[in-house]
Amino acid sequence: MSGYGGNNYSFSLWCYRIIMVWFLGILVRRDVMSIFVDHDYKTSLGTGFYDRVEELGKLDELTRSSKVIVVYGPRNVGKSELARYWIHRRRLTTVRVNARLLRARSLLESMGIGYVEVQAGDSIRALTQEALAHLGVGAGVMDLVLGIALKVAKAVKGGRLLIFIDEFHELPKYKSEHPRSKYEVALEDLRSLAALILKDSVFENVNLLLTVSEGFIATDFARSELEGYSVDWMLVKHIDEIHFRTLYREYSERRGCSLGEDEILGLVGGSPGHLAELCPLDKNGLKRRLRAWIQEVETALSRARNILGQEMRREVDPLEVITIASKLMEKPMKPLEDPIAYNVGQILTTYNIVYPEWSEEGIHYRPQYPVYKVILDIALEKNVSSLLELNAYEVYERALRLTE
Ligand SMILES: Nc1ncnc2c1ncn2[C@@H]1O[C@H](COP(=O)(O)OP(=O)(O)O)[C@@H](O)[C@H]1O
Ligand SMILES: [Mg+2]
Repeated sequence: MSGYGGNNYSFSLWCYRIIMVWFLGILVRRDVMSIFVDHDYKTSLGTGFYDRVEELGKLDELTRSSKVIVVYGPRNVGKSELARYWIHRRRLTTVRVNARLLRARSLLESMGIGYVEVQAGDSIRALTQEALAHLGVGAGVMDLVLGIALKVAKAVKGGRLLIFIDEFHELPKYKSEHPRSKYEVALEDLRSLAALILKDSVFENVNLLLTVSEGFIATDFARSELEGYSVDWMLVKHIDEIHFRTLYREYSERRGCSLGEDEILGLVGGSPGHLAELCPLDKNGLKRRLRAWIQEVETALSRARNILGQEMRREVDPLEVITIASKLMEKPMKPLEDPIAYNVGQILTTYNIVYPEWSEEGIHYRPQYPVYKVILDIALEKNVSSLLELNAYEVYERALRLTE
């Protein structure tokens, strides 16, 4: 009996083990499945392409609903790479112009180096080259898009044409002619173009995709300027933690990294573009970088303080601005409920310290990098009136605690 009972017991144990292995298998597979990486694609960092499944779907959706898509978000998180990857995956007929390179156009042309990529057949490539040859050196977004559309759009017979301008505000026109109000000129140009795209049949099958890493594009001023012209915004945030850790390992195995993944996550979040910048740093280099981050926030705050002072006709205490800046990063806000904090948020957006995330609950101004919030919090605790008084090492220590 006991033998039979024992067999029965071990049979149950085996069943239990099999079920557990099966269950664990599902868990592991789910974990693996939740990591998206495409190793058949090489990013400019030299790794596979990670994460962004949701963003890829959002881009599909937005191209159906809007003529112009503006991709914005913190610097270095991967806006340009996402756009490039999406175009590659969807095999869209695309003319992609790197606005920064366009400034060095004559040099690049003389050396036979391209600053435009065309994902289409030879005839479209030739037409694009023709269109660009007619462009003046100080071209703005209007000249560029109109030139390409007039030449190319009809040739795409029945299909859609995507014109992708990476960092459109870097086009030569906005730098050379208008050093002070360059972004306003860029916005004005974009508004005229958006109006044209919406109404003129030349653009019937054209979509325009822009990436911008300067905060001005995400201000409410920019949004109101472009209201009603079928322009939509897409926010690209940091890569999520699991993906970033996997990306970090791939990158650091190949290139080495003097900082650990927790250090990078604590300082700049899942921002792949910072790997190339931070990984080679030694202790002194990191200290200089920390000081530069502190300086960036300090500059933006003093700008906000001046603007508030003018508007309120009184001297504004530095600590008051530090307090507002720190609090506004903590939760969404309704502009009318706290106009001063809202205003500071808009200024810090322009200065690339925060980026706005819009939702039903209002605007959530999020720090572009976790280290910015850490800097403000330490300043608040220590009651300092200038962030430059902060100790870089303390900022580093506190940022690290965020990932624990
Ligand atoms: N999803 C991603 N997976 C892997 N690397 C990425 C990803 N997104 C961006 N990168 C890399 O990070 C760096 C910064 O990306 P980039 O698109 O230039 O940032 P942004 O345009 O937001 O400033 C680039 O070297 C890019 O190849
Ligand atoms: Mg970019």
